Amino acid sequence: MKRIGVLCGGGDSSAINAGIRAILRRCEDHGWSVVGIGHGWRGLITPEIVPLTLDAVEGSVNTGGTILGTSRTNPFRIEGGPQKVMDNVRVAGLDALIIFGGDDTLTVAHRLAEYGLRAVGLPQTVDNDINGTDYSIGFDTAVNNDVDAIQRMVSSNIAHEAWMLVEVMGREAGWIAVATALATAADAVLVPEEPADLEALCAMIKRKEQQGRKHGLIIVSEGVTIGGLPAGLELKQVDAFGHAKLGGVAYHLADLIEQQIGVRPRVNVLGYIQRGGPPTVFDAILSVRLSTAAVDLVAEGRFNVMVGLVGNKVSTVPLVEAIGANRKVDMEMYRLAKGLGALGVR
Ligand code: F6P
Repeated sequence: MKRIGVLCGGGDSSAINAGIRAILRRCEDHGWSVVGIGHGWRGLITPEIVPLTLDAVEGSVNTGGTILGTSRTNPFRIEGGPQKVMDNVRVAGLDALIIFGGDDTLTVAHRLAEYGLRAVGLPQTVDNDINGTDYSIGFDTAVNNDVDAIQRMVSSNIAHEAWMLVEVMGREAGWIAVATALATAADAVLVPEEPADLEALCAMIKRKEQQGRKHGLIIVSEGVTIGGLPAGLELKQVDAFGHAKLGGVAYHLADLIEQQIGVRPRVNVLGYIQRGGPPTVFDAILSVRLSTAAVDLVAEGRFNVMVGLVGNKVSTVPLVEAIGANRKVDMEMYRLAKGLGALGVR
């Protein structure tokens, strides 16, 4: 009989709750009990630990967010933090943790292995920037949300004959931007992996305007750099992991475009609309597959690892590899998106 703790850290995304249910079901097969840890690593500092049952999660399977809550708490930035976490794990009688999170949350899990933590990670971030998996839980829903939002907005843009800059999330990786651009046949896509080429962008808009098309769609990833400078730092806040909070680069870009060619694109920063709502079928299935596999890894006594999806097969990767480096966008997909859009036409 084991007792498993489930934790969710960092930015939430859709399909976590479906995964939590799958963990509960698989633990039931093993005859194990499960507790939920509230608000990420914070819940193991304060502590905030509650028993979880299948009944309690039943209605939440197709909801967004996380029934556990989340936070960007970093125990390594709190005095005595790692020890507090381990003490609370011991007091709660937890044999292992299953952790939904991105690179920050999973980095903490990996570092706590040195203190004796037994954990299995699940890649959960809309950014899709974790190594060892082709897809992270929540990415597909985020892209679908973006595409849906854009489909609702373009009619107004066409009616008003306006160019539209749509800013999407993704931090230092352009996965959301490229997938959204491909799915919407955007005129241009700007990603953090390549400095924004303002000249080319303005030339494209001018050319299209001269050809008689007075509207268009440009997808901007929140982490793009313009003129070699990180542009999306308007919020002027840094989180507990030392990351600047991004958001607002599209407004800066709109100013620059207006200064250069006198055309002011309409800006839409999609923000949290991307992370919420019911998960797509793809994300729900992904989360259920990976979460179930995480319980099985605990049963096998394999820790300090992450479950991922590689070539549509569930696989396992050491946490140290998963968090090693930010997984950048597939450049082939990026070139395809650029080539299909007007910016690719020289
Ligand atoms: O890492 C996921 C993410 O959604 C990023 O794309 C975004 O920059 C960040 O989280 C936003 O964080 P917060 O919800 O703390 O503002």
